Formats: sequence, structure tokens, C-alpha cells
Amino acid sequence: MLEVTPILELPFNSFKPNTDIKQQRMYLRHLEHGGILFLPNLGFNFTADEKCFLSPDWSDGKSKNIYLRGNERNIKGAKGNTEELAAMSALIERYSQNATTLITHLLPSYMPHAKPANTSLRCIEAAGRNTSWRKDDRRLHADAFPSKPTHGERILRVFTNVNPHNRPRMWNMGEPFANMAARFLPKVPNYSRQQAKFINTLGITKSLRGEYDHIMLHLHDLTKADADYQASAPQMRFEFPANSSWVVYSDLVLHAVLSGQHMMEQTFHLPQENLSFPDACPKNIIERLVKRHINC
Ligand code: SIN
Ligand code: FE
Repeated sequence: MLEVTPILELPFNSFKPNTDIKQQRMYLRHLEHGGILFLPNLGFNFTADEKCFLSPDWSDGKSKNIYLRGNERNIKGAKGNTEELAAMSALIERYSQNATTLITHLLPSYMPHAKPANTSLRCIEAAGRNTSWRKDDRRLHADAFPSKPTHGERILRVFTNVNPHNRPRMWNMGEPFANMAARFLPKVPNYSRQQAKFINTLGITKSLRGEYDHIMLHLHDLTKADADYQASAPQMRFEFPANSSWVVYSDLVLHAVLSGQHMMEQTFHLPQENLSFPDACPKNIIERLVKRHINC
């Protein structure tokens, strides 16, 4: 049988769903084992004045998203006058608050440990985007970012399709992380602390990249660069309709965006200590495969 990402559909149409402990446990188990929580009835409303921000023309042309950065919350990737940028910021901040409320209600044990990171508004069509293979999210990958070591913290994301023309966001989802890791770990070069220090001095990384982030980044790059893997790895297409939301550990679930325009996204970082099923996290999967401890 083809082993691909399991999807659990939740009927909620509010960012404040009522859930009980049994449901919360089920959601934790599902997510932490590489499943997706799919909320087909959960959209995010723009006011009449905000609808203009669905145009891709607000992009500064350099970044693929308009976003509020982690703690700083200053707007990036956009152009506009002070008033327009403030209105865009307010819209993105409102989404961030809704996404945080959603996590608080679905997965209350993650709060207050889940740290909100970037919040983005993605109005550029994903299908035609012209980019380097490494940044090309149309290729199957698990998230890992060259400049931003997580030091073992997990990458949990809330996505909402805000397409005003009723168009879905199309994803492919791949095989379990462990299968991908078993295939590519032998190709990951040995970690060098000296090299990590060097690139940190150059400002290529925002903090010293440890062995965990070294491996995660190489797995990300190896999967994206391997045309045979992209073509032949088990994968399942899934359409996230307009006005739907989904929650996913994007460092664990292999995913690729095929097409779609207009999406909002909130990233959270969660320390491994706050997981309910730590055995299922990428670090522990990798450690079982390499049969030794790895540092974060
Ligand atoms: C991603 O690969 O993390 C982004 C997916 C998307 O833009 O739909
Ligand atoms: Fe990704």
C-alpha cells in the first residue's frame, strides 16, 4: 500500500473551536506522527478595505511573500506608503492572532510554549514562480532553512487559503519522513563545527548551525535536487479549497505546492520538550537511523 500523509478532517468553522481532552490528544497524536489537520470550513475574512491587498502588486519584487517577521513584527517584502503598509500589517497581525487562537483551542498543551514566528501573506501564484531549485517549493521537501537553525525546535504551521476566486491550493504530500531519511541520510556529509562557525561569522546563519540543522538542511536539499526522487517517490495530490485551513509540522511532512494563489500562513516554533510523542519527531527518527545521538 502507498504510504502517504494521513489527513484528519475537522469540521470547525471558527478559530476558537470547542474541543475536549480526548479530541486534543487525537490531534496531537495525528500531527506529531506526520498527519495534517484539515479544516475545510475555516476561512479568514478580509474587510472590504483589505481586499485590495490580495493583489500580487504589493510585493517588493524580491521576496515571494509579504510577511511580519518573528518578534520584530515589521513588515517585509511589500511596497506601499506608510498608511498602506500599516493596513497590510494590521491584516497580517489579525491572521496571526487567529492562528494563535486556533492552536490554543486545538492543542492547548502547546501554549504558551509554541512561539509565534513569521506570519505571511502569499499572493503570488505558486505554479509559475521562477526560482532556484533550493527555494523551489514545487519540489517535494520537508522544511529546513539555510539561515535559520531551529536547534531542534519544531516547525508547526497554520495555513489558510484566502483565494477570492474559489481556487484551491494544490499540494503533493510524500512518504513518511523516516522513509525519506533512510534513503538520503547516507548522502549527508559529516558535520563540521568549524565550517558552521565560519558561515556564522560570515552572517550566513543567524546562529551557529548544529548537527541537527545540518542534517535537516541536507535532507531538504537532497530531496529537492533529486529528479528521480521527485518523479518516483510515493506522493498524493491534495487540493485545499478556498476558505479552508490546515495545520502541519512542515519539518516532518514531505510537501510540495503545485499551484495556488492567495494564502496566509503562521509559523510556530515548538521546543521538543513540549511534544506529546517525542519518539515521532525528526531528531529521534534520525537518531534511530544513524544509531547515535545528534546535537542540536
Ligand atoms: C512550503 O513549501 O512550505 C510552502 C507551501 C505553499 O506555499 O503552499
Ligand atoms: Fe515547505
